[in-house]
Amino acid sequence: MASSMVSFFFFTCAFVLLLLHMSFSFNNLALAAKHSSFAAHHYHHYHHHRSHSSASNSRLRQAYVALQAWKRVIYSDPKNFTTNWVGPFVCNYSGVFCTEALDDPKISVVAGIDLNFADIAGFLPKELGLLTDLALIHLNTNRFCGIIPETLANLTLLYELDLSNNRFVGPFPKVVLSLPTLNFLDIRYNEFEGPLPPELFNKKLDAIFVNNNRFTTMIPTNLGLSTASVVVFANNNFGGCIPSSISKFANTLEELVLINNSLTGCLPQELGFLYKLKVLDLSSNNIVGPIPYSLAGLSHLEQLNLGHNMLTGIVTDGVCLLPSLANFTFSYNFFCEEEGICQNLTSRRGFKFDDRRNCLPDKPLQRSKKECSAVLERPVDCFCCTGGGGAGPAFAPAAMPPAVAAVPVSTPSMTPSYT
Ligand SMILES: *[C@@H]1O[C@H](CO)[C@@H](O)[C@H](O)[C@H]1NC(C)=O
Ligand SMILES: *[C@@H]1O[C@H](CO)[C@@H](O)[C@H](O)[C@H]1NC(C)=O
Ligand SMILES: *[C@@H]1O[C@H](CO)[C@@H](O)[C@H](O)[C@H]1NC(C)=O
Ligand SMILES: *[C@@H]1O[C@H](CO)[C@@H](O)[C@H](O)[C@H]1NC(C)=O
Ligand SMILES: *[C@@H]1O[C@H](CO)[C@@H](O)[C@H](O)[C@H]1NC(C)=O
Ligand SMILES: *[C@@H]1O[C@H](CO)[C@@H](O)[C@H](O)[C@H]1NC(C)=O
Repeated sequence: MASSMVSFFFFTCAFVLLLLHMSFSFNNLALAAKHSSFAAHHYHHYHHHRSHSSASNSRLRQAYVALQAWKRVIYSDPKNFTTNWVGPFVCNYSGVFCTEALDDPKISVVAGIDLNFADIAGFLPKELGLLTDLALIHLNTNRFCGIIPETLANLTLLYELDLSNNRFVGPFPKVVLSLPTLNFLDIRYNEFEGPLPPELFNKKLDAIFVNNNRFTTMIPTNLGLSTASVVVFANNNFGGCIPSSISKFANTLEELVLINNSLTGCLPQELGFLYKLKVLDLSSNNIVGPIPYSLAGLSHLEQLNLGHNMLTGIVTDGVCLLPSLANFTFSYNFFCEEEGICQNLTSRRGFKFDDRRNCLPDKPLQRSKKECSAVLERPVDCFCCTGGGGAGPAFAPAAMPPAVAAVPVSTPSMTPSYT
């Protein structure tokens, strides 16, 4: 049951993503006046503008140098995407899209590269910095590896960068922070590691997907005023507390997904300031302490998953009564009391909930007394071992309870499922 619930959740996510993605592409069309991300558009364009697009120009010659350099560092291309990357007319290459230059409609330039699902193995060469007219790069589901070249800083028109589901390594590619018009950044499913730079949250990004990497350290505490509506940090190794500065996302954030990290400490009251939230998933962490009363203010919240943590105290009526809430998972915690309607959630029609494996006295499928008392007798420790800014200690820091070996981690099978 839990696993089908999880996959449903991710299906929803993927769908939202697809919509977001489509709308980004659409915005991009408007913004970049006729820069087009879709092949169909492109071919239409191509025939329409054949007369001048077949004439080479210095920017297409630069693109030729860049794409040939790229082809040289591609060592496996099982679907033959780059087989036709020969000759100077780069606009005919598979996955390469040309349009009129923004600053000179009489010449054709390379505005998009879309190699999604090409399964190519190779590197990104520094010559990609020559593709200065690019508005979008889509490399989802390939086997590109190595690091992201610094020369991408040259791509000052870049609007969408999707590097998801590849084998990129190294620290967070800071070069993306210098791209002035970047709106969509997706680096999910790679092997990036280390901390996230706080500046990431000062950029005007609509969505921040960094899930399924090896990011560590804390969620930055000095977040700027973020503009993101979706933030997905799942399946990394972020530690420490959820910072109280999370409230800086309040004006835009609708989905916050922090599944399967190493978050500790207590939930900050400021979570309740994220008044636009529809999805809040904090499952499979080591979060302790009570549910903040402020969550009762999340009137748009539809999905709340607190499962697989070490939360204690009361499941509060304020949360169980949230008007939009349709799905509330709090299984695999140490809650020992339910308030008001929380005692009988079956009375909320169509409402999905999961209360298993807690310490609730009158409910089935709860933890043993022994398991409960081992945790409940310890003082709650809101201390954040990686330092920084979350909810201050509510009680004197005590030793952490032993790692939650008794808590099986559910297995969301997440694969990027949009193009
Ligand atoms: C309810 O939420 C859980 C946890 O996020 C999820 O696995 C499940 O698919 C959801 N169920 C429905 C019916 O939305
Ligand atoms: C790619 O080209 C090689 C060599 O021409 C051919 O053997 C192979 O079948 C092609 N693969 C696909 C997927 O078209
Ligand atoms: C580009 O492709 C079109 C359609 O496949 C073809 O007719 C045209 O000759 C090609 N142009 C060049 C310069 O290769
Ligand atoms: C950056 O772009 C300019 C042209 O706009 C080009 O001359 C230069 O070589 C590029 N730099 C890199 C590092 O690719
Ligand atoms: C829970 O609510 C339902 C529907 O309102 C009711 O039939 C049922 O008796 C209640 N169960 C308990 C244990 O109060
Ligand atoms: C949880 O994250 C770890 C890396 O931090 C990863 O190895 C593991 O596969 C993730 N678990 C799930 C269920 O995705």
